[in-house]
Amino acid sequence: MSKVSVIGVGNVGATCADVMAINEVADEIVLLDIKEGVAEGKALDMKQASCLLSMDTKITGTTGDYSKTAGSDVVVITSGIPRKPGMTREELIGVNAGTVKDVTTNVLKYSPDAILVVISNPMDTMTYLIQKTFGLPKNRVIGMGGALDSSRFKTYLSMALGDANLNDIEATVIGGHGDTTMIPLTRYATYKGVPVSEFLSEEALNKVVSDTMVGGATLTKLLGTSAWYAPGAAGAYLVEAILHDQKKVLPCSVYLEGEYGQKDICIGVPVVIGKNGWEKVVDFKLNSAEKALFDKSAEAVRATNDVLNAVL
Ligand code: LAC
Repeated sequence: MSKVSVIGVGNVGATCADVMAINEVADEIVLLDIKEGVAEGKALDMKQASCLLSMDTKITGTTGDYSKTAGSDVVVITSGIPRKPGMTREELIGVNAGTVKDVTTNVLKYSPDAILVVISNPMDTMTYLIQKTFGLPKNRVIGMGGALDSSRFKTYLSMALGDANLNDIEATVIGGHGDTTMIPLTRYATYKGVPVSEFLSEEALNKVVSDTMVGGATLTKLLGTSAWYAPGAAGAYLVEAILHDQKKVLPCSVYLEGEYGQKDICIGVPVVIGKNGWEKVVDFKLNSAEKALFDKSAEAVRATNDVLNAVL
């Protein structure tokens, strides 16, 4: 029996739960929110959808009763406020740091062995906060950002390639999950196994990179709040890789101890995802320009981490 809890069922958390239910990723999904009745309502709505889609995941909702999440194998943390148009993810730290810390305390009380998937923003710093505060084995704390950013990278590549089939594109984004910190690795991006630089000019590729980096902000501007379909689906994709021990390589924000030349930081790097959480860092051989971008990204993530003490 596998059990997943989703803490915070706003747009992202609810979409994540819905995608997990539709794909029958777990035997049981618990939705928890602090807004009276919302998690219960969304759980009931999803149950009714189950009848139509012949899904048989057990789905329940609760307003703040963490005992219902007891014994979860994976807990997805989306709590906190989303950004509004014009805001950076980093600006959310003042509100979200306290929330994420409280949520994690409650989660671990009932599911001390759970693997934690962190989606709350600023995601790299929230992942770092959890890692440093609770001292969990590092493989059990995973920040979800790179899978989402890579899906945006693939989408913009597909559009630049004249609506190429997304399944024919391989592309990875590493670095921080921020508008100026993420690093779409164009050199490693392929279409049908061929480097995309064979099909796209440097100018076209540069545009793909800049569109990818502000991919979240573009959606926030269009929607008036941050996106949810791809963020929720990326969370579900990560949980599926954990529960089904898929050993998929996904870029995730994890605690580094020297890998990629960085330590005491959570930042996006490719990792193998399986039943133990993130199992190992995969070393993409970065060239000196990519390495410089990675170091600069780490510096920016570290600057946000430094704000933690002031806001907690
Ligand atoms: C985004 C939020 C979830 O990138 O960080 O859409």
